[in-house]
Amino acid sequence: MTMRVAYIFTTSISFLLLLISVALAKDHGISYLGPGSSISTNSSSNSTTTTILLSPSGAFACGFYRVATNAFTFSIWFTGSSGKTVAWTANRDVPVNGRGSRLSFQEHGGLALLDYDGTAVWSTNMTAARASRAELLDSGNLVVVDQDHRQLWKSFDSATDTLLPSQPMTRYVQLVSASARGLLYTGFYTLYFDSDNQLKLIYDGPEISSIYWPNPANKLWVNQRSAYNRSRYAVLQQTGQFFSSDNSSFDASDLGEKVMRRLTLDYDGNLRLYSLNATSGDWSVSWMALRRVCDVHGLCGKNSLCKYIPKLECSCLEGFEVVDASNWSKGCRRKANITASWDDRRRHEANNMATFSFSKLAQTDFYQHDLEYADSVPFLQCKEACSDNVDCQAFSYRRGEGKCYPKVSLLNGKNFPDPYNDIYLKVPKVVMSTPELASTVTHECKIHEKEADISSRMFKGAISKFKVGYFLSSALTLLFIEVALIIAGCLVVYKWKIGPEVTDEGYTIISSQFRIFSHSELLKATNCFQEELGSGGSGAVYKGVLDDERTVAVKKLNDVIHGEQEFRSELSVIGRIYHMNLVRIWGFSVEKTCKLLVSEFIENGSLDRALFDYQRIIPVLQWNQRYNIALGVAKGLAYLHHECLEWIVHCDVKPENILLDKDFEPKIADFGLVKLQKRGSRALMLSRVHGTRGYIAPEWALNLPITGKADVYSYGVVLLELVKGIRVSSWMVDAEEEVEMAVRCSTEILKEKLAGEDQSWLLEFVDHRLDGEFNHSEAMVMLKIAVSCVEEERSRRPSMSHVVETMLSLVE
Ligand SMILES: *[C@@H]1O[C@H](CO)[C@@H](O)[C@H](O)[C@H]1NC(C)=O
Ligand SMILES: *[C@@H]1O[C@H](CO)[C@@H](O)[C@H](O)[C@H]1NC(C)=O
Ligand SMILES: *[C@@H]1O[C@H](CO)[C@@H](O)[C@H](O)[C@H]1NC(C)=O
Ligand SMILES: *[C@@H]1O[C@H](CO)[C@@H](O)[C@H](O)[C@H]1NC(C)=O
Ligand SMILES: *[C@@H]1O[C@H](CO)[C@@H](O)[C@H](O)[C@H]1NC(C)=O
Ligand SMILES: *[C@@H]1O[C@H](CO)[C@@H](O)[C@H](O)[C@H]1NC(C)=O
Ligand SMILES: *[C@@H]1O[C@H](CO)[C@@H](O)[C@H](O)[C@H]1NC(C)=O
Ligand SMILES: *[C@@H]1O[C@H](CO)[C@@H](O)[C@H](O)[C@H]1NC(C)=O
Ligand SMILES: *[C@@H]1O[C@H](CO)[C@@H](O)[C@H](O)[C@H]1NC(C)=O
Ligand SMILES: *[C@@H]1O[C@H](CO)[C@@H](O)[C@H](O)[C@H]1NC(C)=O
Repeated sequence: MTMRVAYIFTTSISFLLLLISVALAKDHGISYLGPGSSISTNSSSNSTTTTILLSPSGAFACGFYRVATNAFTFSIWFTGSSGKTVAWTANRDVPVNGRGSRLSFQEHGGLALLDYDGTAVWSTNMTAARASRAELLDSGNLVVVDQDHRQLWKSFDSATDTLLPSQPMTRYVQLVSASARGLLYTGFYTLYFDSDNQLKLIYDGPEISSIYWPNPANKLWVNQRSAYNRSRYAVLQQTGQFFSSDNSSFDASDLGEKVMRRLTLDYDGNLRLYSLNATSGDWSVSWMALRRVCDVHGLCGKNSLCKYIPKLECSCLEGFEVVDASNWSKGCRRKANITASWDDRRRHEANNMATFSFSKLAQTDFYQHDLEYADSVPFLQCKEACSDNVDCQAFSYRRGEGKCYPKVSLLNGKNFPDPYNDIYLKVPKVVMSTPELASTVTHECKIHEKEADISSRMFKGAISKFKVGYFLSSALTLLFIEVALIIAGCLVVYKWKIGPEVTDEGYTIISSQFRIFSHSELLKATNCFQEELGSGGSGAVYKGVLDDERTVAVKKLNDVIHGEQEFRSELSVIGRIYHMNLVRIWGFSVEKTCKLLVSEFIENGSLDRALFDYQRIIPVLQWNQRYNIALGVAKGLAYLHHECLEWIVHCDVKPENILLDKDFEPKIADFGLVKLQKRGSRALMLSRVHGTRGYIAPEWALNLPITGKADVYSYGVVLLELVKGIRVSSWMVDAEEEVEMAVRCSTEILKEKLAGEDQSWLLEFVDHRLDGEFNHSEAMVMLKIAVSCVEEERSRRPSMSHVVETMLSLVE
């Protein structure tokens, strides 16, 4: 090696082509380059990287990085990461040819990257006769220095998508994301210091750009930022602490010196801090800017909704179709058929022909692009504002506050439960496949929102009672509507008379969000706690009907924490949780000594009732229903464990706590109750005694701290029961045996069977009530997951999001 360096030096006057073989390069990058040296790519080798310089410790290397079969970039990468993660790239958008391209340290002191034909695709734009060498430091900084080691140029003065520890982020340095996973090309997201001195994340797409971090809806002080320090300086320290002059400081979850880190603006627009596991070469996330993926702008394009369940999913709005399914950033467009009638509508605008209606998307919002904005506006007025404006695509209405935003374009759509916000989408009438009459009904209902709410409910009731009548004749149906509307009208007038609080549109509306109920209100709703739905360790549950006709379940909580403040703050967290597989909490009441929890009422009762009903009062749960229940429960738990604002361990997953709605979609009940129960060991004992034996993970008995993996265990037991249709506790005939032992033994046996070739045992194993009507591959997957979930050693159990992925991958 010394010989090689000496060689470079002696020949530095003449133009030299130094060809490094990969075998050499992989381990023996040289430590510095002298002026006049030039190094070529070698595409005939298969390796992803061709090292030119290696940092003294060997942690970083720079050289040619293969981005396509015959295309290379000049990059700096982490040698210790298994994927050779790139930290910096000179030519991310213009890779050079794999044959004959060169990195040249020119006589005048500049570094240049020359393509095969000699054109410079990148250069340091520097002339410094004093430049004596180019070297790569242990920080990952590539520098050109003079004789006295003064830095004339450094790669730390620029960045691609990654900031390294000790690399300052300034007004000139910004991070720009890559365009897709695994690519280096420039994407649409940027981290930069804005003109107000704040560090921000912006989506800078082909059509629009918008800032999404820090939360643009918040005031400066809510985001805990400062806009007054003009130094615009931020740095990530070796220890994992990030300091910024705008106070956007944070710590890695694994603070400490000895870890290699990087702060990367990922292709999905999220800013993440990564730590390298030196043993495995894998990166793990130790901080991220946005916990909810859909808060990032530009992921789904226009006229679509972003969901995270548990992968990012985009879906088009009603009446729209996707432009390019492989690139959602192009969004959705109106279906062709509709465009015609839409234009018709515009033409007939003058004739005032309402050819559209409004379709409600509850708890949804689209970011900005408002035609106007008004506060404390009644619903009808807001609706009119949108109806009257040809450009209005939809309007957003925030109940209670009366905030009204008619919108021109629909971008960054996502679930928006807090503050509660609804979207009313303009839908041309032809989209509705229902007969003309039916669409008129919906139209009517939507116009007189309050009355219609009642009438449509009555109407629905009428349908279910008199199904024949609905189909019998449209005249009869019309009659129903009329009667319903008249009754509704009376009711409304009646309400107006009795309740002074019913003075505005906001009345029924306020109650649709999370709130505090009065005790008397709930007494009335439940008719003095008459109809008991069930009762468990945490309390008895009663059915009730609120003033706004919502059916609810009211739970009397036993053994809850006494401090009212603490109770409220815990509940405000739980109340904000919203997921389709979790029972929605509407509110609570804390009057007197009685603490009540109000949640949505789920029609079809709990899973144990449906699954362990051997008298066959209820039809047997079919296989696809069971698979769907398993998947839904997994999604709900994954959300609690990984996704929601405050991660929650359920601690009592069992069929009794899994409710089924009218479509047999599962909803998990009683999550977060552990947080409300009295603290200390007694709370844990309580759950142990009250929780059904057989669902409790072994670590409860061992007094180990309880993590999400305890829920994974319980979930595994529920999976076994879904497949077999028998309670695990009554499954083993040997009554003497401990149920925990029984689970262990039977899963050991199961494991052996699953590993074997022969699958004939499956027919014997799966619930006999299905008469063999089940899907073999799905059953195998469910059992495999179940067996891994009930592992004794909790680190060997999968995470819930992994379970969801496995189950989804089978369906897809
Ligand atoms: C390129 O790499 C291959 C495989 O390592 C080697 O055999 C070949 O000699 C190299 N070619 C040049 C021009 O260095
Ligand atoms: C490169 O990889 C391809 C496929 O992986 C293989 O067929 C080929 O022999 C490899 N070439 C060299 C030089 O190793
Ligand atoms: C060098 O200068 C050219 C033209 O002025 C510019 O496009 C390029 O970005 C500069 N390169 C660097 C590394 O600053
Ligand atoms: C800076 O952040 C800390 C917590 O991260 C907060 O307590 C403090 O109030 C913030 N300062 C300003 C000026 O917002
Ligand atoms: C501004 O930020 C810089 C860098 O973080 C810091 O050194 C300086 O003290 C700050 N100035 C003020 C007035 O807070
Ligand atoms: C690093 O990876 C190894 C091997 O996968 C693993 O055993 C170890 O626990 C990991 N270390 C950390 C700190 O995650
Ligand atoms: C997706 O579409 C946008 C245009 O809307 C385009 O700029 C971008 O390059 C496309 N991305 C991919 C990966 O094709
Ligand atoms: C238009 O609508 C008709 C019937 O409603 C449907 O069969 C046809 O596929 C639609 N065409 C397009 C292009 O969507
Ligand atoms: C579930 O709900 C559907 C629709 O409401 C109903 O027809 C069915 O009887 C219910 N099943 C059970 C088991 O309650
Ligand atoms: C079983 O389920 C898988 C995945 O859901 C599906 O692809 C397959 O077609 C199903 N097989 C049968 C026989 O229904």
